[in-house]
Order: sequence, then structure tokens, then C-alpha cells
Amino acid sequence: MATERTLSIIKPDGVQKNLIGEVYRRFEATGLEVVAARMMRLRQDQAEQFYAVHKERPFYADLVRYMTSGPVVVQVLEGEGAINKNRELMGATDPKKAAAGTIRADFADSIEENVVHGSDGPDTAAQEIAFFFSGAEICPRTR
Ligand code: CMP
Repeated sequence: MATERTLSIIKPDGVQKNLIGEVYRRFEATGLEVVAARMMRLRQDQAEQFYAVHKERPFYADLVRYMTSGPVVVQVLEGEGAINKNRELMGATDPKKAAAGTIRADFADSIEENVVHGSDGPDTAAQEIAFFFSGAEICPRTR
């Protein structure tokens, strides 16, 4: 399997619940490397643009409100099959459908407030990484 990069966000509810360390522990325990990271508060226009693909969905306005409600932690994860590994760690979007032991099954309150975001494929991963990080901000391991 190829080495990949994926974009991950610990959403405002995850930060509020003090889960940054727990989520990072799970990334590292599964062999994913954090190669870029930033805490930030998304502006409305950033959240709208990031989730533009959902613009026509009934939950879009609420999603933007939620994603701007508090700080998030954004990171690039690198590793073998990183995109699917991160999706497996997160579990299904709806925590009621997420497999036991996944981040969303363990910590999420609802399909909207679901603690983490992860890219869903290689094209989205490339777009989402470029949305938050320049090439110079990505720091692959040198040792
Ligand atoms: P995420 O994986 O970041 O992708 C889009 C987000 O929209 C999703 O996680 C949830 O936070 C939210 N979302 C997806 N489906 C719904 C839904 N049916 N109702 C409310 N929010 C949703």
C-alpha cells in the first residue's frame, strides 16, 4: 500500500471535550504520523468554502455555525493507506452507526457534532490539505 497524506480536523466539540491528546494518541498508535498541525478558529467564509460541496444540503447552515463555534485543530496525517486508516479510526459519520471503539462511537454526540473530520479520498485529501497548509508547512519525518 502506498504512503498517503490525509487532512484531519478535530472539530469544536472534540476540542471542547479535551480530546486533542486522545485523538492524537489514536493516530500515533495506528502508525499515522502528524506531519503538519495548527489550532485555529475557522472564519465563516473558511467553513463555507471548506464544506462548499454540502452547500445545497439542509444541514449546511448549521454545519457552518457548528464549525465556527470554537477552535479546531487541523492536521495532516501521513502513512501507509493514511486516508482509509484515518476513516477507520473515525468510524461512520453518524455515531449511532459507527463501529465500537472508533472515535465517533466513543465520543460523538450526533451526526453533526461528530468530533473529527477526515478526507474521504485521494483527490479530496489533496484539496483539503492545500486548503489549510502550504508545502513548506508540511514536515515529513527526517529521522
Ligand atoms: P464530515 O465528515 O466533516 O463531513 C460533513 C459534515 O457534515 C459531517 O462530518 C457532519 O459534521 C455533518 N453532517 C453530515 N450529515 C449530516 C446530517 N444528516 N445532519 C447534520 N449534519 C451532518
